[in-house]
Amino acid sequence: MRALCVALLFLHASGSGKAAGASGAKGNRFVCTAVPAGADLSCPVEATNRVQSTSPQEEELRNTIIQLRETILQQKETIVSQQGTIKELNSKLARCEADAKSRGGARRKDYSKNTMGDLPRDPTETVEQLGKTMQSLKDRLENLEQLRANTSGGMFPNELRDLLKRRLTDLESQLLTRVAELEEEKSQLYNETTAHRQRTENTLNSLLERITELEKSNSAFKSPEDFKVSLPLRTNYLYGRIKKSLPEMYAFTVCMWLKSSASPGIGTPFSYGVPGQANEIVLIEWGNSPMELLVNDKVAQLPLSVSDGRWHHICITWTTRDGFWEAYQDGERLGTGENLAPWHPIKPGGVIILGQEQDIVGGRFDATQAFVGELSHFNMWDRVLRPIDISAMANCSAYMPGNVVPWVDANVEVFGGATKAALEICEDRLFDS
Ligand SMILES: *[C@@H]1O[C@H](CO)[C@@H](O)[C@H](O)[C@H]1NC(C)=O
Ligand SMILES: *[C@@H]1O[C@H](CO)[C@@H](O)[C@H](O)[C@H]1NC(C)=O
Ligand SMILES: *[C@@H]1O[C@H](CO)[C@@H](O)[C@H](O)[C@H]1NC(C)=O
Repeated sequence: MRALCVALLFLHASGSGKAAGASGAKGNRFVCTAVPAGADLSCPVEATNRVQSTSPQEEELRNTIIQLRETILQQKETIVSQQGTIKELNSKLARCEADAKSRGGARRKDYSKNTMGDLPRDPTETVEQLGKTMQSLKDRLENLEQLRANTSGGMFPNELRDLLKRRLTDLESQLLTRVAELEEEKSQLYNETTAHRQRTENTLNSLLERITELEKSNSAFKSPEDFKVSLPLRTNYLYGRIKKSLPEMYAFTVCMWLKSSASPGIGTPFSYGVPGQANEIVLIEWGNSPMELLVNDKVAQLPLSVSDGRWHHICITWTTRDGFWEAYQDGERLGTGENLAPWHPIKPGGVIILGQEQDIVGGRFDATQAFVGELSHFNMWDRVLRPIDISAMANCSAYMPGNVVPWVDANVEVFGGATKAALEICEDRLFDS
């Protein structure tokens, strides 16, 4: 349809061109402005209607098409007006040629007032110049006509098509950008969801970690030594174990807080067995016997009695020199003796068990010898402590951790139903007695 419009335009423009003069050109111009007005309604509008009433981009595209159409119509007008000019020039040239022929080369005229204005004064030159000008105008017209011929073959002129192509490319890239934006938004949303889930998981994990930590430390003791081990039943499977072993020693002091009401006898608060000597060091109150200290399976009876169900602080010192020993209860030295495994060095690398007597290292316990009660601040030193240190610990004016076995939570394992629980012995003891 567009092609038809353009063709019509040219039929009017060139059809009446050669025959009619300047007035004919004016008439063409009138036709030209009239035809596009009619043509607009039939052809390009139809094309634009197809893409109308949708997006702003399409509206924009429609406007572009309208603008281009106007440009083309203007171009056609220019062509027509140029054709008019050419015809004018043709007739002038014809008159000039006629003049030149009739008057000959000798005759001169005042050319300064000729209609071409600034043409050179020499008539021959003028003719040549006019010929050149006309030729160039003819060339330009041919070009324009060829362009018209080239462009009228399709639905749209080439330029318009190119422009449309560019517009479409623009629109396409805009669309792609929008799609990319949407993808980005989607990705962000996904990331946010992922991040949220990650945060939740992290929180849960840290909570779990904290719970595990709390469980590990059992009851989150105020400080590592503020706990006790409870051995509530006389069995051969409830016990505690000190993770640290002992070095070779030529003297020792062992102190602890005990609470028991078991009878007959409180059993074995602790035993230290080494390979080849299960009774390297044992503290035991068995049956109706008094409390005894065994060193290398040698026995000393101690004047201690703690089975009244209250907390008592006991300490026992021993040295290899003459096998001398001391027994303290609640800060008071209640007995001493000698010849308990004299000159025997305490063998290293054994196992300290709380609450059971070992028949082999770390095992073969005897229920009748088991300790029943509670136990805390089990500390060992590789030397004999002074009485003043012991009574200071017993009256809670000082606390000394053992230098070979300190009482710390991390150092004590419990088995078989034995438990660890928080205890601040120096405060509990006050209510106790
Ligand atoms: C018209 O098209 C022909 C070939 O299709 C080309 O050689 C010529 O240059 C074109 N003319 C214009 C003015 O674009
Ligand atoms: C989403 O996460 C992926 C992978 O971690 C990352 O490559 C991408 O840039 C993120 N997108 C946004 C929008 O943050
Ligand atoms: C605790 O024992 C130490 C050392 O024997 C002593 O100096 C102190 O006076 C005692 N304190 C109390 C309150 O009994």
